[in-house]
Amino acid sequence: MTLALPKEMPVGRPIEAVTNRAAVTTVAPVTAAAGAAGARAQAERPLLYVSRTPDDTLIAHLQSRGWHVAVARSAHDLGRLVKTDVACAGIVDLASFSLRDLGGLEASLRQQQIGWIALATSERITDPEVRRLVRHYCFDYVKVPVANATIDYLVGHAFGMVTLCEPELAPPVDESGDDEMVGTCEAMQQLFRTIRKVANTDASVFISGESGTGKELTALAIHERSPRRKAPFVAINCGAIPHHLLQSELFGYERGAFTGASQRKIGRVEAADGGTLLLDEIGDLPLESQASLLRFLQEGKIERLGGRESIPVDVRIISATHVDLEGAMREGHFRADLFHRLCVLRVDEPPLRARGKDIEILAHHVLHKFKIDSARKIRGFTPSAIEAMYNYNWPGNVRELINRVRRAIVMAENKLISADDLDLAQFTEQQTMSLAQAREAAEKRAIEAALLRHRHRLNEAAADLNISRVTLYRLMGHHGLREMGAVDDKPPFGADDPVQE
Ligand SMILES: Nc1ncnc2c1ncn2[C@@H]1O[C@H](COP(=O)(O)OP(=O)(O)OP(=O)(O)O)[C@@H](O)[C@H]1O
Ligand SMILES: [Mg+2]
Repeated sequence: MTLALPKEMPVGRPIEAVTNRAAVTTVAPVTAAAGAAGARAQAERPLLYVSRTPDDTLIAHLQSRGWHVAVARSAHDLGRLVKTDVACAGIVDLASFSLRDLGGLEASLRQQQIGWIALATSERITDPEVRRLVRHYCFDYVKVPVANATIDYLVGHAFGMVTLCEPELAPPVDESGDDEMVGTCEAMQQLFRTIRKVANTDASVFISGESGTGKELTALAIHERSPRRKAPFVAINCGAIPHHLLQSELFGYERGAFTGASQRKIGRVEAADGGTLLLDEIGDLPLESQASLLRFLQEGKIERLGGRESIPVDVRIISATHVDLEGAMREGHFRADLFHRLCVLRVDEPPLRARGKDIEILAHHVLHKFKIDSARKIRGFTPSAIEAMYNYNWPGNVRELINRVRRAIVMAENKLISADDLDLAQFTEQQTMSLAQAREAAEKRAIEAALLRHRHRLNEAAADLNISRVTLYRLMGHHGLREMGAVDDKPPFGADDPVQE
């Protein structure tokens, strides 16, 4: 699956951001809702209610509130009722299904045109599988018993959210296929789902990920899928601007504010009014600017340097960094109060090495896009080039892959790009890998992917892998994964606890 980027440029975008990328992102999976507007009945809003034991009073209440309720008692029934071209609300009564039956619901929960609300008991919501389904696919959940009016309110909200994603409201898709965000693996699919969900809110988003993983692309995708997409997307790289200039870059200045200030300058925050401000490399923001930014986030107003006026500014803040901000907070380099304001919603970019088959898909995508750079007709990659790409660790992630493939297109002497052309010849040696080594490598990849999926929450990652937290922790040590920026990497047992597997 790819996310296509239309070429139109948003108004008021600063030169820095423009030169960085000449396109704006839209999230492609919206096509699942194609035709929804036409098909939706105006008077009655469609609602799917899936429960083993449907509650007749709830159904009657929803009908009286203008919902056209379709009831499914099983995953099979639900599958038959789901229409991919109709936006609707959904209630999934997770409490009524046995844990074994939950898996069957997932395909329908995944449908993007349905705004799901989950019903669960206090006990059921502690189950990792239930939590995962709610987190991935539902707008909200409520613990039962709950007032019918509350459910009505929540489904109304969820329905509103999915209709926001309808295609006629989305920006046009670039048919040429240029500048796409490519991703088919589960981690990227989850990222796309997250992008769609966070785009519909105004809350601050914090994007964390290694260098070159696509943080800026994700920020653009969020902006372009948000109701603010017609307003500017302004990016500022907090690490690239000298500290003494950052304050005036962010907030602007009045004429005469300092020597050389011959005319008023609008800062980046103000330039983003109505739109989205990306604070890139937020970890590099000096403490002084952190204080001003926090003040702005609290008050929603800025003051230009040398000015007396407080100017209200309405921006959605997205921040991004490749550094460990939690560590920076512990060391006192980053204010915790600011971090909590910035990180209302968190997005984690998976590193390229954890994206499995996407590595190959991305390589072909880049080849297709840039092969025009070569006089020769390059058809693809040799098997050992592909193998090397899987063996390599990609510290520079997607950006590095793009650079290596572009360079190889120029350097290649044959119709197929070799591992040597990619400068990865030494990573083909593992052709003679023993079965034990192959198992070892596969185990490491699976653990990395689970940790990423669950943002380093060990309990959940362990449940996903069907191993105990203790085993997971031990294997993380074995594979050198304890350094991966865990939020939850304390040992899973006290010093005196017996270690059980
Ligand atoms: N999923 C993807 N599909 C296609 N291209 C991608 C994808 N992710 C990133 N890219 C491309 O990789 C390059 C790096 O992306 P981007 O600048 O968004 O990364 P970043 O995480 O902000 O990097 P840095 O930490 O160095 O600032 C860009 O050219 C971007 O278009
Ligand atoms: Mg970046």
